[in-house]
Amino acid sequence: MDKLIVEGGYKLKGTVNISGSKNASLPILAAALLTDEPVRISRVPDVSDTNYMIQILSQLGASVERSSGTVRIDSPDGISSSASYEQVRKMRASICLLGPMMARMKRCTLPLPGGCVIGDRPVDLHVRAIQALGARVRIKSGNLVMEAPNGLVGATVDMRGDNGPTVLGTDNLMMAAVLARGTTVIESAAREPEVVDLANFLNKMGAQIEGAGSRTITIHGVEQLHGCEHTVIPDRIEAGTFMVAGALISEGVTINRICRDHVQAVADMLSECGHTVRFSSNGASVYVAPGVQPKGGKITTSPYPGFPTDMQAQMTALFSVTPGISVVRDTIFPQRFMHCSELKRMGANIKMDNGTAVITGTERLSGAPVMASDLRASAALVLAALAAEGVTEIHRLYHIDRGYEMLDDKLMGLGAHVSRVPDLKAVEES
Ligand code: EPZ
Repeated sequence: MDKLIVEGGYKLKGTVNISGSKNASLPILAAALLTDEPVRISRVPDVSDTNYMIQILSQLGASVERSSGTVRIDSPDGISSSASYEQVRKMRASICLLGPMMARMKRCTLPLPGGCVIGDRPVDLHVRAIQALGARVRIKSGNLVMEAPNGLVGATVDMRGDNGPTVLGTDNLMMAAVLARGTTVIESAAREPEVVDLANFLNKMGAQIEGAGSRTITIHGVEQLHGCEHTVIPDRIEAGTFMVAGALISEGVTINRICRDHVQAVADMLSECGHTVRFSSNGASVYVAPGVQPKGGKITTSPYPGFPTDMQAQMTALFSVTPGISVVRDTIFPQRFMHCSELKRMGANIKMDNGTAVITGTERLSGAPVMASDLRASAALVLAALAAEGVTEIHRLYHIDRGYEMLDDKLMGLGAHVSRVPDLKAVEES
């Protein structure tokens, strides 16, 4: 187990290249199961979550080769329809294997994913969607057991849940529908760029999907899909994280390999708070610098294209040292505030009020030993540490390694004083 030592107070400068999207890669890797022909996916980030997905695909019987950012997957007939608890329990997003396994093998045994620190992670919308296409479902010793011996049949399904549309639920239904008999219409579909990227990948495989990126997606089932090549979109949350770093403590940073539309909500919020945000003419790069007179802001997360839930913790770190009062409410994961207690240990003034964080900006945070808890909370702690006075030790770095490719190297490249060292104390405790 590693920890990150951050010496705060050093202004970032220079340029950083954003990696491919973790959240686009995961369903696309799973979608490789939909054909017995090889697929090649480029710019898959080398992070724990994509490696877990690759391990699961191999364990099912697919042959997977990875050379730097390109992954080649070959899923011959006869692959298993049953994933192991050992593998699935490591990553909740494994639920996105449901759709491709049901489409290809018409049955699947998938351990139910547990919750996680950002809140209860139900899968009722996923189950209801595949049932609507004719699957029989039962829960057996902690597994979701689904079968559709006569194959899946297209239907119209409304995917809206109490907390809005479901991203991976939309993905699962799309992947189940591509080989179903007839047409499937997804109402209240998620509009995230990662859903669009998956739809583009499936259409390259020969699927017939229209409307991805809107609230209504139509899928005309086809007999079979073929292999293809695809490059995943840039990681908009990694890009947003570096944009916040640029606004927090820099002489101006340039963030390359982004897609302007995908980070517009974060850019608008940073500009509203008085920071400098300038996109290149082609929208593939953005320059961010701290505002002269920055001010607090009010964030209510919402499904794309609204402000992303995956960016509210990072903004909370920025608000912690921004003059004035800021308010952050997460409508998607109302309990997603694990970072606040650790930020308070660094001197942040944050009061929780019924699922809303009220932040009063302080002059400066002070370095302290802190504990990472989930992927984006950990990113918030790294940001806070960059701006804090003194040294911060961030334990349980594996949370960051789930979704940020070479974060410490990228920060060092921007002039941050960070170093990754073995966490000997954690080893003793574990
Ligand atoms: C995806 O998770 C992302 N993960 C999450 O990013 C992201 O926070 C989330 O979408 C919301 O944007 C991946 O893409 C791998 P949801 P997902 O289903 O699809 C409720 C990160 O940090 N819900 O869109 O699992 C759910 O509880 C991760 O990279 C149901 O009620 O999230 C939540 O309140 C964290 N029933 C809301 O919907 C269901 O069956 C949205 O969840 C499914 C979801």
